[in-house]
Amino acid sequence: MDRKSQMLTDLSRHRLVPVVVLDAASDAGPLADALVAGGLPVAEVTFRTSAAGECIRVMAARGDMVVGAGTVLTAAQVDEAADAGASYVVSPGLSRAVVERCAERGVVALPGAVTASEVMAALELGVTTVKFFPAETSGGAAAVKALAAPFKDVRFVPTGGIGPKNLHEYLSIPAVHAVGGSWMVPRDLIAAGDFDEVQRLTAEAVALAGKEALV
Ligand code: 3PG
Repeated sequence: MDRKSQMLTDLSRHRLVPVVVLDAASDAGPLADALVAGGLPVAEVTFRTSAAGECIRVMAARGDMVVGAGTVLTAAQVDEAADAGASYVVSPGLSRAVVERCAERGVVALPGAVTASEVMAALELGVTTVKFFPAETSGGAAAVKALAAPFKDVRFVPTGGIGPKNLHEYLSIPAVHAVGGSWMVPRDLIAAGDFDEVQRLTAEAVALAGKEALV
C-alpha cells in the first residue's frame, strides 16, 4: 500500500478526526499526549492561528500520530503544512490550487464537497475522499446518504456540528470514512490547560465510535 492509501486507511481505522485550534505552540505536546492517552492518535490542526505550523511540527515529530493540517485555503499553506510534516491537508471547500499542490508535495488532499457538482469536481482532480462540511447545516446524515448513492467510490468525512448525540447517524453510513469534530478538543479547555478533561472526552468519543462499529 502506498503512503497516501496508508494514511487514509489509518483515518478510517480510527473513525474520528479531532479538529484542533491551538493558540500556543506550547499546547501541542500536552494535547498530543492527551489524544494518544485517550486512544485517538489523530489531529487536524487548523490554520486558524499562527501557531498551527509549529504545532503540526511538534505533533508529527513524535511519530505516533496521524497529523494533518486543517482550514488550508492556499497553496502556500499546503507548503507550510507539508514542511511541518503534515500527512494530509483538509480544506473547507474545493480549491484546484490546493489539491494540485498537495499532489506535488505528496500529501493527501481532503477538500470540502457538499453538492453533486462539487463531488464531481473533486473526482476530476483525482480526489475520492472528501470532507462533507459543514455537515449539519448542509443536510446532515440524510444528505451524505443521498450523495453517496450516485458516487459509489466516494468516501465522506462529515464535519461541522457533530457530537456525541448525532455521531451514530454518520458513522452508520457505509460511505462515511471518518467523522471530524472539535467536541473532544474544546479550544477553551486547551487554553485553560485542562488536558485531563480533553483526555476524558477523547476516551469517551473513542468508546462511542467503537460501539458504533459494532452496530
Ligand atoms: C471544522 O473546521 O472542521 C469545524 O470547525 C469543526 O466543526 P465543529 O467545531 O462543529 O466540530
